[in-house]
Amino acid sequence: MQTPRPTRSVLYIPGSKDRALDKARGLPVDAIIFDLEDAVTPEAKVEARATLKAALEADGYGRKLKIIRINGLDTDWGKGDVEALRDAKCDAFLLPKVNGAADIDALAAMLPEGREIWAMMETPKGILHAEEIAAHPRVTGFVAGTNDLAKELNCRYRADRLPMQMALQMIMLAARAHGVTAIDGVYNQFKDQDGLRAECEQGRDMGFDGKTLIHPDQVAVTNECFAPSEAEIDLARRQIAAFEEVEKSGQGVAVVDGKIVENLHVETARKILALAEAVAQTSAE
Ligand code: COA
Ligand code: MG
Repeated sequence: MQTPRPTRSVLYIPGSKDRALDKARGLPVDAIIFDLEDAVTPEAKVEARATLKAALEADGYGRKLKIIRINGLDTDWGKGDVEALRDAKCDAFLLPKVNGAADIDALAAMLPEGREIWAMMETPKGILHAEEIAAHPRVTGFVAGTNDLAKELNCRYRADRLPMQMALQMIMLAARAHGVTAIDGVYNQFKDQDGLRAECEQGRDMGFDGKTLIHPDQVAVTNECFAPSEAEIDLARRQIAAFEEVEKSGQGVAVVDGKIVENLHVETARKILALAEAVAQTSAE
């Protein structure tokens, strides 16, 4: 079975900051979003392209997924970002404030054939059009932009994120319907580890593949929460073993820890073990 690359921790790095660009090389993150949008001031945006290009050419990021977040194509910088970086060594381009599939078409037309595109899901229109965006053949990843979403909805911040549950679930539904990676939004209070852990757990409970981060101190908790736990791995192994045992006598249902295990649970168990294996490989790099 092919092991998927984990995408537990996805760190934003301001594309203008040499020091952060360098520091990220040694951080145990699964993916990096090299940001030219909101983390870079208008005055620094043009220069940031060259800074980022040089960092990507120098590389040193190992097998971390490298994603470039450009400015929107309706801004003064979006097209210039694409022109400067279209051939850069990276895995995907991340487009902010995607409202529909037409926005993806516009970026795809400017990029080399086959370049993968990720979409920031952070506007009411984008959420309502989540399915057509996920179905776009170039789209392979979704990132929930929860700060912009809260602004657009005019909702209040709550620890349980109740006001944005529906939007987050629409992102998940569309992503899963079309095989797209789904990454949760950032946790703004970057010094609050307990709060971060609670939000990671919630995102993982919902099915997200990982979480976007703003600070290196958020990496460890996130990697832990989005990796299968020892208990999950142990249960998955016991489910598979129990199911294989009952299959021998022609039965389709096993019982483990008082709960039924059917074919579909075994598929989930295998997925958990594959992710655990991928995480172990990543940690060994
Ligand atoms: N990526 C890589 N390195 C980072 C980093 C990041 N996102 N954020 C901070 N660092 C580095 C700093 O450069 C510093 O490195 P050093 O010790 O080698 O000097 C170290 O981590 C400690 O940083 P610290 O002093 O605790 O943070 P700060 O006060 O400099 O910065 C923020 C705090 C929030 C401003 C900063 O983390 C940041 O800009 N984050 C990204 C914001 C972003 O991308 N927003 C857009 C998406 S929401
Ligand atoms: Mg945003």
